Amino acid sequence: MAELLIDEYVQDGWKYVDGTLHCDGLRLERLRKELNDRFGWAASPVFVYSQSTLIQNVRHYTNALESLGGLGVLSYSIKANYNPRIIATLREAGTTMATCVSGNELQLAIQMGFPADQTILNGTGKHRWEVELAVRGNSLLNIDSLFDAQLVITVSRSLSVKARVLLRINPNVEAGTHPYLTTAHAASKFGVDDTLVDKVLDELRGAKENIDVKGVHVHIGSAITRVEAYADLMIASTQTLNKIRGSGWSGANIINLGGGLAVEFSSPLPSGYKGSQEVGKGNAWTKGQKAETEKHKVTTPSPKELVGAVTPLLPDNVTLILEPGRSLVATAGVVVTEVLGVKCSGERTFVVVDAAMTEVIRPALYGAIHPITYLSLPTRTQESCVASIVGPVCESGDFLAHDYPLPGPPPMTGSALAVWTTGAYCASMASNFNLRPQAMEVMVRGPDSYEVIRRPQHLADIIRACL
Ligand SMILES: Cc1ncc(COP(=O)(O)O)c(C=O)c1O
Repeated sequence: MAELLIDEYVQDGWKYVDGTLHCDGLRLERLRKELNDRFGWAASPVFVYSQSTLIQNVRHYTNALESLGGLGVLSYSIKANYNPRIIATLREAGTTMATCVSGNELQLAIQMGFPADQTILNGTGKHRWEVELAVRGNSLLNIDSLFDAQLVITVSRSLSVKARVLLRINPNVEAGTHPYLTTAHAASKFGVDDTLVDKVLDELRGAKENIDVKGVHVHIGSAITRVEAYADLMIASTQTLNKIRGSGWSGANIINLGGGLAVEFSSPLPSGYKGSQEVGKGNAWTKGQKAETEKHKVTTPSPKELVGAVTPLLPDNVTLILEPGRSLVATAGVVVTEVLGVKCSGERTFVVVDAAMTEVIRPALYGAIHPITYLSLPTRTQESCVASIVGPVCESGDFLAHDYPLPGPPPMTGSALAVWTTGAYCASMASNFNLRPQAMEVMVRGPDSYEVIRRPQHLADIIRACL
């Protein structure tokens, strides 16, 4: 066998063995064949998840939070991936709370076994029924604005229930990430602006018999690579916590620092392409962007480093909640996609695959970089190609990567590629654009064990609600 062009893989669940990718010991070419035999064309593209990686990702957090002796809590942000089997795995591995951004997420979290009082309902705009659901269940509700506070007061009065709330602040801390992934700066729609905190607290104080302000919530954005940003958030949160205590809720004892921790490229990248996601700007991985990525090459902090950075600043007897999404699930997922053909246009080579922006919208949405590799590595080592890897969707923004270096000759029609770190914000952001069915999802549990956790979608499934 020719020398591998890609380094031995780094993460436990994913490994190239004899030049072909395995997930938790299962050869993915075998999985492809078996799915194809069962489901035909509907078997590709497919999301494949590594159960062991999910469990390992939870343990990184729970081990780190253990140092807080019961005052550290892990809450999963369901928005990253709402597949019930994924949620169940994360819960069984030790995640004790669920963060939700809609009434449907809240209902699912409760159905999945999270006690209602171990859920958090967040959101810039909430329907009354969503607030009612949260107040009835004793969830923590994040207050995002004056009008949000007024709605929670109205609902809790009408239900004669005391609502447990956190005040989501917008402390104007720079996250240093893509603008679409930043949520805590002056121009962001999220949270209560610094200058309005007193006003919102006054409003809540007017309804003190129905409102229990338990503490502070903040979420700085996504793909954060600086733990110092979390330390800044802790300082800002503590100031607000003191203000809340001074406003009459002396027992307020929760600081929720949100999610946002970045994940490293978690695939064996061609040499020279290791870096951090989302650092490059713009929509395409152009030569300039590659240089930019190299320039900003950073090491992604671990949950342990994050907890270590904020613990010295955490006030006594205050519970710290972390609510990651991406860093729990992104590295557990890969999209396996079939090559439909290769074409040239001018100087460009296009590798057209059957996955598209409908499954992996992040490159088009905010210039995210998802490493792409062959499922089975080519045996000829001298050639290499630089290609745009694009989907079949009728939209120029439909690409998975531009100017992407693939080792070996252009891939053969019918062969497969793996699109990495697609466990978060891919399946949950999928669409039926072009009437494309939502892709199947499979959870691998071991060398001979996997489960289809989303069945193939058919035309009738998609249009049923329209009729
Ligand atoms: C309030 C809140 N908490 C947590 C998260 C999870 O962030 P991430 O998936 O980057 O960890 C998000 C994501 O946008 C969020 O809005």
